[in-house]
Amino acid sequence: MAARSDLAFDPWDPAFVADPYPAYAELRARGRVHYYEPTDQWLVPHHADVSALLRERRLGRTYQHRFTHEDFGRTAPPPEHEPFHTLNDHGMLDLEPPDHTRIRRLVSKAFTPRTVERLTPYVRGLADDLVSRLVEAGGGDLLTDVAEPLPVAVIAEMLGVPEADRAQLRPWSADICGMYELNPSQETARQAVRASVEFSAYLRELIALRRKEPGEDLVSGLIAAYDEGDRLTEQEMISTCVLLLNAGHEATVNATVNGWWALFRHPDQLAALRADHGLVPSAVEELMRYDTPLQLFERWVLDDIEIDGTSIPRGAEVAMLFGSANHDPAVFTDPESLDLTRADNPHISFSAGIHYCIGAPLARIELAASMTALLEKAPTLRLAAEPERKPNFVIRGLEGLSVEVG
Ligand code: HEM
Repeated sequence: MAARSDLAFDPWDPAFVADPYPAYAELRARGRVHYYEPTDQWLVPHHADVSALLRERRLGRTYQHRFTHEDFGRTAPPPEHEPFHTLNDHGMLDLEPPDHTRIRRLVSKAFTPRTVERLTPYVRGLADDLVSRLVEAGGGDLLTDVAEPLPVAVIAEMLGVPEADRAQLRPWSADICGMYELNPSQETARQAVRASVEFSAYLRELIALRRKEPGEDLVSGLIAAYDEGDRLTEQEMISTCVLLLNAGHEATVNATVNGWWALFRHPDQLAALRADHGLVPSAVEELMRYDTPLQLFERWVLDDIEIDGTSIPRGAEVAMLFGSANHDPAVFTDPESLDLTRADNPHISFSAGIHYCIGAPLARIELAASMTALLEKAPTLRLAAEPERKPNFVIRGLEGLSVEVG
């Protein structure tokens, strides 16, 4: 297929970022795969294709387990970006089997539904406290007052990051996550490198401390696995902790504020939810489908594939449009409607296949806890000012969400 520049897909256009869903409908109508020249990627907009590709072993989050950059027709990242890549490339999200399997097995012990279930009272208590403070203040910024402190405290607690150090996690994470947008700038890379150096040094110290004084936390657990010869290098341990700390809150923060903003724009749905708190579990799923917190994930083509008669060769990159898949009318009845009672909701906001979100059970508990606390303690919660959208496309969020109560 020839290069196309006439696609209704422009992740640098604020109007597209504000509401990418009409453009996705056009992409789906035009075909199953589209070459997108500005990022040199193959865009895949349909649910069935995205679901299949996430499980496709001829694709990978990385190619470095099988090929060199040169083999793959790519250039190595500039040496000054090395600290970011060292950190990023040793986390399980950017590894493929067998390394991925080995690390995921160790970490998944901390994220079994049963382990996470045990955290529920703690998460609920935290959500209640945060919402009570918001109510006492008569309102505030839902992002900084509730959406952010909740998952940050939970994941920091799980990893054993002392309370005094937690304020630094958000800026480090934000700077690193800038690299997950399409075609990041030199300035974004510079910030990500600095954050990677600082965050890695911080974790190296924390690991040394926990080695001397082990606790019940996940860092101590990973050290024990390492010391028992379970083949987790120190770099893998650092990268895993950074991944958990970042992935453990970024999308949850955004899902919370995107969700509440969607509720404020659909007063009938919000009223139905207020009348029946039993809708919380299906509301959490529907809000994650309706405004998908992570819009795009990439895979490298390790061995040639074909989509709808188009061959995509080894070395190419596929970009799966999660937001589009979640609005595909082939799977969702009336996909542009927000329906908190939607029963059949196979959204793919948590991905699928071997990289399926390890934190999904925890994220669901956190989202339900903050929603329930807000419904119970702030029944008059309303929007105080129109929010501003973050300019990012991949990680979809708001700059803040100003609310009033009472
Ligand atoms: C609403 C919240 C969340 C969303 C939408 C989300 C979404 C995702 C997605 C889409 C992936 C896979 C990406 C891919 O296939 O390329 C993923 C992976 C991952 N997520 Fe989440 N996530 C959320 C919350 C969390 C939480 C709370 C944690 C907690 C620790 C977490 C930890 C991880 C980890 C470690 C991976 C990598 C798994 C692997 O590579 O095997 N996430 N997440």
